This record gives sequence, structure tokens and C-alpha cells, in this order.
Amino acid sequence: MLPVKRLKNRAKVLNMNQPIVILGIESSCDDTAAAVIKNGKLLSNIVANQDVHKQYGGVVPELASRAHQQNIIPVVHQAIKSAGINKNDISAIAFTRGPGLMGSLLVGTSFAKSFAMGLNIPLIEVNHMQGHVLAHFIEDNESGRFPTFPFLCLTVSGGHTQIVLVKNHFDMTVIGETIDDAAGEAFDKAAKILNLPYPGGPLIDKNAKTGNPLQYKFTKPSVPDLNFSFSGLKTGFMNFINTETSKNSNFVSENLSDICASIQHTIIEMLMSKLQKAMVQTGIKQIAIAGGVAANSGLRTSLKELEEKEGCTVFIPKFQYCTDNAAMIAITGYYKYMKGEFSTQTTSPSPRYAL
Ligand code: KG4
Ligand code: ZN
Repeated sequence: MLPVKRLKNRAKVLNMNQPIVILGIESSCDDTAAAVIKNGKLLSNIVANQDVHKQYGGVVPELASRAHQQNIIPVVHQAIKSAGINKNDISAIAFTRGPGLMGSLLVGTSFAKSFAMGLNIPLIEVNHMQGHVLAHFIEDNESGRFPTFPFLCLTVSGGHTQIVLVKNHFDMTVIGETIDDAAGEAFDKAAKILNLPYPGGPLIDKNAKTGNPLQYKFTKPSVPDLNFSFSGLKTGFMNFINTETSKNSNFVSENLSDICASIQHTIIEMLMSKLQKAMVQTGIKQIAIAGGVAANSGLRTSLKELEEKEGCTVFIPKFQYCTDNAAMIAITGYYKYMKGEFSTQTTSPSPRYAL
């Protein structure tokens, strides 16, 4: 094991003489991903999804870690190959230390540690939520503008719903978060009640496109400050569907678009009202979104409308950088590399790793 100090010295030498090539590895939930970033520019971004969970209506942790074990070597191999580099060109390996599922994190962490040891290069642990925020700084061939500091980031995924005050690449404060379910969970649970397969968020989005968002009304919980709550919405939605199907057994199939549009509209309204409150409280008018739910077309439209109405600047990442990916881990690793923040071989997964 190399002591941290020596790694810092080594990083400085590499920094001055060679391009910085970071291999990022992500395995926090049910996507096995690897990406290569060279001097901040994305060279490859590979994601292997796990279809095995579809039949169970949610991620089965044990099956996820087994699938990661099967996928990790081919995914990393493909990322290195597509980047057109040799493994000896890699400067450091960045991996997701948490938050996430213990068994899933363990696969990525163990692989990253072994590979770094084998190549005798530094190891960089990354917080998955920091990665979602820094996905905005991934440079690819079509890179547009990047947010400037400070900005607010609404991070909405299957496991998290946070409003983050981002002062710089490393200084991030959670100023609001969910007290129960995440927004992605609300989408997925609503979809499950409608008998749609997991993950249901994209299917609600798809069906909502042809529906009337004001057709059905659902009660929104009142939560203080900038926090969110989605569990009551799920119960209210389930009761509504049960009542309607007891009157008409074809209610869901006959009204699927309107039901999806209405529940999606309610979730988006809950997110947008807290985001606008955060803008007023902080006076910050640069808004970014991140996480899987940032792929939602209704949320994207609402943010664009906010931009026009409020004169704020909105940053919406490309679809492939919203859902779990390793490019966001690699870019975070790149910034940590330049700062000289490395981990040792004693590092271990942290399922509740705080931002
Ligand atoms: O960030 P992510 O890929 O994984 C986690 O870290 O959780 O987010 C996955 C979540 C799932 O709940 C999925 O249903 C949701 O993001 N999601 C969507 C859409 N695409 C993915 N939710 C609503 N609309 C979408 N288009
Ligand atoms: Zn995520």
C-alpha cells in the first residue's frame, strides 16, 4: 500500500509531465459503468444495465451485486478499448464509494482497488451524489456551457432528492432533501401500482406525453423548509386507483395517459415549488438538475419555462449523464486528482456516504 503522502507527490509529477487520464467506475445500484476521461474530456462512457430486476418490480440487491461481478471486467475492458488507450496510460482510478447498495458498491470498490494496485497508480473515492452534480462539467465533443459558481442543483434520482447549494467543485451543502421516498421512487411506485415494469419513471414519462396533466388531482403533502415528502402521495395514488378500479376494472387501461400525466404533473409541481423557494431564499438564479429523474421530459419543460419566466439560467445535462454513469465519477475523479485528494488501499464502501 502506498501512503497518501507519496501518492500526492507522485500525482504532482504526473500532473506536470503527462496528460491526466482517469478511469471512472460506477456500481452503486443496478448499472455497471466505466468511463475514461483525459484532461477533463470524455473518451468513452460504457453502461451495462441489469434487466434481471424487471420481473421483480424493483432492484434486488443480491442479484445486482452478482450482475456487477459478471459485468465489471467486460465493461472496464470496453471503456479502455473505446477510449483508444492502453491500461498503462491511466493516471488514476476513480470509483463510487457510496451512497448505494453495499453489495453493489463492494464489487466496484474491490475491482478499483485491485486494478489500481496492479497498475501501481492512485485510487480516488467518489461520492455518487457529488458525481451527479459534477456531471455538468463533463466535456464531450458537443459540450455547451457549464454552470458557474455558485449554483443550485436539484438532484433527483431513485434513491435521493436533494437541493444542493454548489459553491465550487468540492463545497456542496444540501439545503433541502426528502424526508422519506425519493422522487424517482415516487415515479417507480406509481408505475408499479399501474402494473408497469421497473423502472417505471421512463414509462410514466412516455405515457404522460399524450395525457391531460390536470385530469386528476392528488393531495400534496405540506413539508416545512426546503424538504420534500413523497410517501403520502404514493398512498393517495394507490387509494385513488383502487377506488376507481373497483368501479371500472378497465379504469387504468382506458385512462393510462391521463393518469400518468396527472401523477407526473403533481411530482413536478412538488419539485418545482421547492426549487423556486430555494431560489428566493438564496438569491441564486443559476439552476442545474441532475440524477435519473432529470431525464424526465415534463421536468425539463418546466425548467425551461422557469428560465423564461424568472430570467434564471437553467442547466440540463444530456440524457446519458442524468442516469447513473461512470463519466460523472471520472470527471469528479479528475478534479480530485488535480487537488491531490487520493484514497489508500484501506478504503471501503460507504452505503450512507454523506455529501
Ligand atoms: O440516477 P439514477 O439512474 O439511479 C439512482 O441513483 O437512483 O436514477 C434512477 C431513477 C429511477 O427511479 C427511474 O425511474 C428514474 O430515475 N427515471 C425517470 C426517468 N428516467 C429515469 N423518472 C421519470 N422520468 C424519466 N424519464
Ligand atoms: Zn444516481
